[in-house]
Amino acid sequence: VVSCKATNNGNQNPTPSSRKTNETTYYYSPTATKIIDFKPPPFSKLRYRRPAHLVDADYLAEFAKAVNLMKDLPPDDPRSFMQQANVHCAYRNGAYDQVGFPDQDLQIHFSSLFLPFHRMYLYFYERILGKLIGDPDFVMPFWNWDAPAGMTMPAIYVNPQSPLYHDKHNVSHQPPKLVDLEYNGTGKEITDEELVLRNLKVMHRQMVSGAKTASLFHGKVYRAGDKPSPGPGSIEAGCHTAIHMWVGDPREEYEEDIGNFYSSGRDMLFYAHHGNVDRLWSIWDKVQGTMGEHMDDINYLNAAFYFYDENANLVRVKVSDCLDTKTLGYDYEPVEIPWLRTKP
Ligand code: C2O
Repeated sequence: VVSCKATNNGNQNPTPSSRKTNETTYYYSPTATKIIDFKPPPFSKLRYRRPAHLVDADYLAEFAKAVNLMKDLPPDDPRSFMQQANVHCAYRNGAYDQVGFPDQDLQIHFSSLFLPFHRMYLYFYERILGKLIGDPDFVMPFWNWDAPAGMTMPAIYVNPQSPLYHDKHNVSHQPPKLVDLEYNGTGKEITDEELVLRNLKVMHRQMVSGAKTASLFHGKVYRAGDKPSPGPGSIEAGCHTAIHMWVGDPREEYEEDIGNFYSSGRDMLFYAHHGNVDRLWSIWDKVQGTMGEHMDDINYLNAAFYFYDENANLVRVKVSDCLDTKTLGYDYEPVEIPWLRTKP
């Protein structure tokens, strides 16, 4: 079981790739001593997350209000904006060791912990925002970058007057520029129409033809004592990382904020991006329908993460608690999935 110890060693190990981080100030350090085992709260109807490019003005006003309230929480409140951003910092390269294995870093990326960890990170983030505005049915939007209508940065995140706005973005990728789901630092000299088609082919490969098993889609199982990064799944390594790099600010030394692990949680667009990643997992379940080998692996099912919930309680969540969004009370509004029909 991979777990997380409640102090940080503050080291700055390099990431598994050649990209380095320069994290200095902010760490997420759980100080609570009481840990509650997660139980999904009862709900009467499913909440549906909607595409960010389709939300209406009333919803946007609520969302903005919630984010402002989160930004106004005292900095030492575990639900505050920076503390929440630092949850991402804590679970990546080198912030923590694994429990019982002081020479092995804890890193939830590049492994089958990637999808469950981010699912629950967003879940609690959304619950906190909902609590702040007194709406337990509040949902965050998702960035629908896998469909042509969503292939630009959503307008609600690029208005400098909005609390959703973030100033560290690649300015040459502002709307109407289309995302490149294979972006690795350099743009392509192709038309928008060609880019859309390539993006759809990327999606088909990473969701269908090249993602037929749980290891291919979710990544390899990461066991206590293992070296970090046993191997990422198809969308983690592919479209997901491409978007991080495409949005990150090339004027910053390490493509902050969303272009780097330690800082990406400071950009609200991160949560819309990961909403889509999470949605793609739920689509994969329907398309491929098998967690196969992972469901027999107790190391995977019992792996646990720690989060603060909407009441600032420290909660332990196991991978087995979060395999179906519907047990967590939410789902995704069904929208067109054009890449299902696009053959590579
Ligand atoms: Cu934790 Cu998109 O990275």
